[in-house]
Amino acid sequence: HAAAQVLVASNRGPVTYSLEENGELTAKRGGGGLVSGLSAIGDSEAALWVCAALGDGDREAVRRGVGEPGVRMLDIDARVHADAYNGIANSVLWFVHHMLYQTPLEPAFGPEFRAQWASYETYNRAFAEALAQSAAADAAVLVQDYHLALVPGMLRELRPDLRIGHFSHTPWAPVDYFRMLPDDVAEQLLRGILGADRAAFLTGRWADAFSECCVAILGGTSGTRIGVHGLGADADFLRERSRRDDVEDRLAALREQIGGSGAGDRKVIVRVDRTELSKNIVRGLQAYRELLATRPEWRERVVHVAFAYPSRQDLAVYRDYTASVQALADEINSEYGVAGWTPVVLHVKDDFARSLAAYRLADVALVNPIRDGMNLVAKEVPVVSDEGCALVLSREAGAFEELGEDAVVVNPYDVSGTAAALHTALTMPLGERAERTKRLAAAATALPPAQWFLDQLRALGD
Ligand code: G6P
Repeated sequence: HAAAQVLVASNRGPVTYSLEENGELTAKRGGGGLVSGLSAIGDSEAALWVCAALGDGDREAVRRGVGEPGVRMLDIDARVHADAYNGIANSVLWFVHHMLYQTPLEPAFGPEFRAQWASYETYNRAFAEALAQSAAADAAVLVQDYHLALVPGMLRELRPDLRIGHFSHTPWAPVDYFRMLPDDVAEQLLRGILGADRAAFLTGRWADAFSECCVAILGGTSGTRIGVHGLGADADFLRERSRRDDVEDRLAALREQIGGSGAGDRKVIVRVDRTELSKNIVRGLQAYRELLATRPEWRERVVHVAFAYPSRQDLAVYRDYTASVQALADEINSEYGVAGWTPVVLHVKDDFARSLAAYRLADVALVNPIRDGMNLVAKEVPVVSDEGCALVLSREAGAFEELGEDAVVVNPYDVSGTAAALHTALTMPLGERAERTKRLAAAATALPPAQWFLDQLRALGD
């Protein structure tokens, strides 16, 4: 088909397919901040989204020629993709940028890493070649995230005429932490991104960290412009979506599960995350347990609703983490639960309508990541909330830069501090809570996804 004027490249695309037992393919929207932010591209003509086939369903869709208009899925060799995605992107680069290494998860850059790194290069080259082939003369190409750090440099060599941007949806590691990577790999990653005309980040903090790495390791950013675009929540979409019938149904079911004898009798602390180590779900549960232990007045008067949707379950450390979240929730329930009161309602399943229902009724939202590029949950809750919601927010989330003033701010490692913050949030006067929610919602929607996307295109110079 015709060459595209605007191209987006990312590992995860807007849809993934699963192959049902009857041989049919069902499509599902991709999860995570990147896909939420980029959904605006679907509306523009002459746009193409290049992404990877992620599983058997996607590969089958490519083979059958099933797909969405404006989306090109690359059927990259499964082994190469697994090495690049699970091995390098999610086990190494994600861990570096989120500073997740700790005993016994120590980095070991030996032969296995080198083999996976070769796959990461092959995988990046597949994207660069597909983009080079599909792009019209002078087209703008927006390359997304740590999966594709080498693509801008490779694409620049193949197609010097293109305008190339790179966007990081993660934090960027501080220079001393980034230098854990072997020197040649660190240099290749930086040079790869610097192949873009412009490298952009979610906050000034991550942009500065990237620049500092470039200066320390390469002596500078070699003319590449550095930008910041703080992706915001999509207020129109969220307000409409959260009032639909399926959300109302789940709201009623949730109210029933929470129990209590009537309106406002039980407070609700809500969290919604991927099953993701950097989201710090275990310390959140520890803090909640400490709240129940040290302030018995909250027993039977609060419920912690924790929704975690399964993510990266090919990786043993993610499966183990998910199991430890489940185990701790069970422990708290058997320690404190009584007839008619379940202290923790944990669901490990993807259900967007149910998440929106939880956002609506939350008294407190708990967002306590160890590190997070932005965190859209912190931005979505205040927009959707029915009667105002106090936000407990980690100072290490990108969203802290915009929302810190009206949140109850925590150090994510400090469990006792988080327990105290939960108490503060639960006891916030309702008037103050409503006022803060209004200001949070305004800050959270300052840069809606469509504008965020257009700003990047404009900054590339179109
Ligand atoms: C983060 C990353 C995205 C990724 C998302 C979901 O937001 O920045 O690139 O798509 O997590 O993770 P997954 O591995 O399921 O794509």
